[in-house]
Amino acid sequence: MNAYVADFSAPKDISRSRVEEYIFANSFDRPTLVIDTDRVARQFRALRAGLGQADIHYAVKANPAPEILHTLVGLGSHFDAASRVEIEMCLAQGARPEQVSFGNTIKKVSDIAWAHEVGINLFAADAEEELEKLAEHAPGAQVYIRLIVENCQADWPLTRKFGCAGDKAPALFAYAKELGLKPVGLSFHVGSQTRRAEMWGDVLDQVASVWANLKSEGHALDLLNIGGGFPAFYGQAIDAPEAYARQVMEMVQARFGDVARVMAEPGRGLVAEAGAIAAEVVLVSKKSENDLHRWVYLDIGRFSGLAETEGEAIRYQFATQRDHEAFAPCVLAGPSCDSADVLYERRPVELPVGLKSGDKVAIRNCGAYTSTYASVGFNGFPPLDVVVI
Ligand SMILES: Cc1ncc(COP(=O)(O)O)c(C=O)c1O
Repeated sequence: MNAYVADFSAPKDISRSRVEEYIFANSFDRPTLVIDTDRVARQFRALRAGLGQADIHYAVKANPAPEILHTLVGLGSHFDAASRVEIEMCLAQGARPEQVSFGNTIKKVSDIAWAHEVGINLFAADAEEELEKLAEHAPGAQVYIRLIVENCQADWPLTRKFGCAGDKAPALFAYAKELGLKPVGLSFHVGSQTRRAEMWGDVLDQVASVWANLKSEGHALDLLNIGGGFPAFYGQAIDAPEAYARQVMEMVQARFGDVARVMAEPGRGLVAEAGAIAAEVVLVSKKSENDLHRWVYLDIGRFSGLAETEGEAIRYQFATQRDHEAFAPCVLAGPSCDSADVLYERRPVELPVGLKSGDKVAIRNCGAYTSTYASVGFNGFPPLDVVVI
């Protein structure tokens, strides 16, 4: 992660996807995420082919656009919802309650009770109090225990906040049973944007050891939830989705043998490459004559959808109408009056030297974790608009 060496000699990819063509053929009065649901469907089919027997529970948080949910319902996807609103969105698009799991380990009791009432029967938990809440408000429900995993090699790690240590899992299993719940298995998240399938190995070893321990204590385990982590292309090489998913499943099979039910929760890997954002250059300037790089300010920034530029972790790719011109590095920033609203500075971005105010910029592979991260009116800027083609 600290190998911030810019590769300014890399050839520019000036081929355009359908959403990029749409962006350059239309005008927009504010930053707009353009989504291609055919591309979502293609990605779903590729992941399903690689995942084989595993059920796909799309992680709705990545992008809850109704058209995406509708497309996925039509393809037989299941859903991982983080809140009551996400469950409602899935049901509104025709998902059946038994196709939706409530995967957040931190749930309000009113949301648990509501979910149970509408027929949701599969919940995540990582703590005693969460099990008590479930036992009271969703009596008899199935629950899987989320584990913390270490040594994750993801670009966007999800360690620390969710999950319990492996040595706590047996006590939580026993407690769930005592409370009348059905503890069915384990879940984990390898970390979002895990670029290569081989990076799963160490994490799978950790989970497999907890799995074996639980079995040796006499617990019946029916469900392994392998979470998300499936990558999108942000300029660094990734494995193709089907091959990636197949390799992960081979690694799962090698460590866990035949598990009655495996579920995967891809978010980014399903929708990121189906979207691009139409943005505009607002200002190009230099702070002084000696400034090494220009500053390029866009009409979208950290608070209007590009939250994952935090720590320069996710490095979006850009397309402009000047991509045939010479390129030079620049610092890229958003439009707001917050100094945290600088997207890439430690490792500058290469953009055409002739770029100027008013130029359109397509931000590639932005279909995941953008629209829902946009603030509603920070500095008076409108939230990211969404258009589905
Ligand atoms: C429980 C859970 N499942 C799945 C996902 C989706 O992860 P990804 O977008 O890396 O596929 C997340 C992301 O935060 C998550 O918290």
